[in-house]
Amino acid sequence: MDKLVVEGGRRLEGEVDIAGSKNAVLPVLAAALLTRETLRVENAPRLADVESMLGVLRDLGCAVQGGEDEAIEVKAPEHPSQRTDWELVSRMRASFCVLGPLVARTGRAEVSLPGGCALGGFRPIDIHRKGLEALGASVRTEGGYVIAEAPPGGLRGAEMYLGTAFGSSVTGTANVMMAATLAEGRTVIQGAACEPEVVDLGRCLQAMGARIEGLGSPRVEIEGVSELGAVEWSVIPDRIEAGTYVIAGAMTGGRVRVRGCRPEHLVTVLERLREAQIPFEVGPDWIETQARDPRAAGEQPRPTDVTTHPFPGFPTDLQAQWMALMTMAEGRSVITERVYPERYMHMAELARLGADVRREGALALVSGTPRLSGAHVTASDLRASAALVLAGLVAEGETHVHRVYHIDRGYECIEERLRALGAGIRRERVERERVE
Ligand code: EPU
Repeated sequence: MDKLVVEGGRRLEGEVDIAGSKNAVLPVLAAALLTRETLRVENAPRLADVESMLGVLRDLGCAVQGGEDEAIEVKAPEHPSQRTDWELVSRMRASFCVLGPLVARTGRAEVSLPGGCALGGFRPIDIHRKGLEALGASVRTEGGYVIAEAPPGGLRGAEMYLGTAFGSSVTGTANVMMAATLAEGRTVIQGAACEPEVVDLGRCLQAMGARIEGLGSPRVEIEGVSELGAVEWSVIPDRIEAGTYVIAGAMTGGRVRVRGCRPEHLVTVLERLREAQIPFEVGPDWIETQARDPRAAGEQPRPTDVTTHPFPGFPTDLQAQWMALMTMAEGRSVITERVYPERYMHMAELARLGADVRREGALALVSGTPRLSGAHVTASDLRASAALVLAGLVAEGETHVHRVYHIDRGYECIEERLRALGAGIRRERVERERVE
């Protein structure tokens, strides 16, 4: 296993280009199963999760070409396999997005219950199930697999509510929306996720011939069609990667221009940064943090509370990184996680770096400290690893971030990009990982 070694104390400076969105491209790739024609995807990020999804699609019989610096082409066969391999799906939760397209196109799908980041608790799939059942599928769990079967005449459009106690479900909406494109008649999804990644998937489906209205709102209507066709799609930029680099600029006090992003996808984050009195400028497709000394009196971030919510609220996928920023604030801030109430595994590791953090029920209290100091820390999930790298950039001495495979799931070439901005960061092989 690899670790990242970060030498703290260098101010980042320069420009960084944002890759395509991980959470947009994964369901878009799964949409290839809805057609026998070719789905061509431009701007796909080079990430372990994308490779995992392509592995699942290959295993189902799809022909996959391209990748690396080229567009990815996926062509599903006339009769895709209906069962996914446990080992492949257990690597990544988003591979569960093949369930809806497979059952819609072939009438049956057996998909292993997903793996992926645990985020501090159990991640249910009841919403995916509820939506497919509303479309007439029978869904059961057997031997660790979710087995969905369409009724004899195929899926039928229906009206349904897909909200959860924690807001809407992103991949739940994606799965059911994909299935409904080929269902007979009209589907109305109430409580649909409004995330830009769901909108991007919906637009890709529209380009394939799907009839969808209301994208980006909690009410999405889909009129089923008998088949979908070929598409060339360029996925949206990754708003979480963009937000992470903006926070990196804010923490190190450097002028960092984050290029090729969509600032409108980060409205709440930018509002919070303003409140924290972090100087930055915004252009049509860039955000640039301005130079300052974030440890100097009067230039430290102002303590700024955040509560995570579904889009357009503050994203849960930037909560850990925000916490890293708040460890430098000139006072105490409160972070409330409403999407995944237990997504706080990074706190213990930030504490190892000297952060003053504690839990009070559903809240995390963060008191800024004058300095962090490098230590060995362990990444528990993708965004937690990003937060630890950010903290390492401002900690004194070296921070060793272990189990860095998590970060490779969602950040393309993170150490190269940070190095290009002037960070001291290298990857090292760990022969014997600690056992807990
Ligand atoms: N939920 C249910 N039942 C369900 C599905 C979800 O109760 O059937 C609950 C979850 O437990 C959670 C809330 O609903 O409390 C939202 O979960 P959601 O289904 O939206 O999460 P997801 O679709 O599994 C996606 C992203 C996550 C991101 C969340 C929230 C992908 C591949 N993953 O997950 O991204 O945190 O939405 O925005 O799109 C990441 O990129 O690091 C990541 C974890």
